Amino acid sequence: MLMYGWMLFVETAPHRYDWAVKVMTAGRIDRIKDRIAQTIHAGERVLDIGCGTGTLVERCLRRGAYVTGLDSSEFMLKEAEKHCIAAGGSSRSTLVRDSVTQLRKHFPAESFDVITSTMALGEFPHEYLDYILGDCRRLLRPGGRLIIADEVWPERPVVRVLYGIGLALCWIPQFVLLRRAPFPIRRLAETIRAAGFEVRGRATWAASSLQLIFAEKAVARGDDGRIEHLSVSTLTGSA
Ligand SMILES: C[S@@+](CC[C@H](N)C(=O)[O-])C[C@H]1O[C@@H](n2cnc3c(N)ncnc32)[C@H](O)[C@@H]1O
Repeated sequence: MLMYGWMLFVETAPHRYDWAVKVMTAGRIDRIKDRIAQTIHAGERVLDIGCGTGTLVERCLRRGAYVTGLDSSEFMLKEAEKHCIAAGGSSRSTLVRDSVTQLRKHFPAESFDVITSTMALGEFPHEYLDYILGDCRRLLRPGGRLIIADEVWPERPVVRVLYGIGLALCWIPQFVLLRRAPFPIRRLAETIRAAGFEVRGRATWAASSLQLIFAEKAVARGDDGRIEHLSVSTLTGSA
């Protein structure tokens, strides 16, 4: 929640966003983005939702992918444009300014091999989370990958109580200062599974309040209700 509050604050000055997030997370978010990028292959079609200043878009471009970044903030996208140019991937990149709730307006079904989102789901309207994940499923080709890194409610009850107290203390000043406040996600892996994905790998940090989830679009439910799926992706490396 502290991370989110800080991110909301620095989003008001996107040109400072990248270094501010680096400082706040002691480089961890960068290492997570590196780890995500390692799983991207040349020629893959990648959608990064809530792409912000485009640091993950840049990494995926450097891997030779075709990358679309979507974000609702014009200012963040201006920074993202610079990152696309820095990667020399302008011809392989598309930046879309719109809300994540409008995905189906922009892209036909099965447009992407990979959908990523880092530190953004907690800012999206939670009542739309199932809808957004449903759209991600529709936009991915069969066997396509969904990769999410986000701040979530910790799993252990004691840590959850402490986290809840911290959240309550931070929430009011954040809302007063920024007129916005984040809501860390509950049961992220379960929500992703319920949307029709197989969770293939998960890494957690900070008493499991920061999670990186690799999932794959389940292809179909068999007669026995079992989810069938295609090939398993390589999920190696460490953040
Ligand atoms: C904390 S930043 C994370 C940015 C980037 N993914 C990163 O890891 O650095 C969250 C981003 O989500 C975007 N965002 C918030 N609500 C959104 C919405 N409803 N639709 C699209 N983008 C949204 C914000 O503009 C911001 O760029």
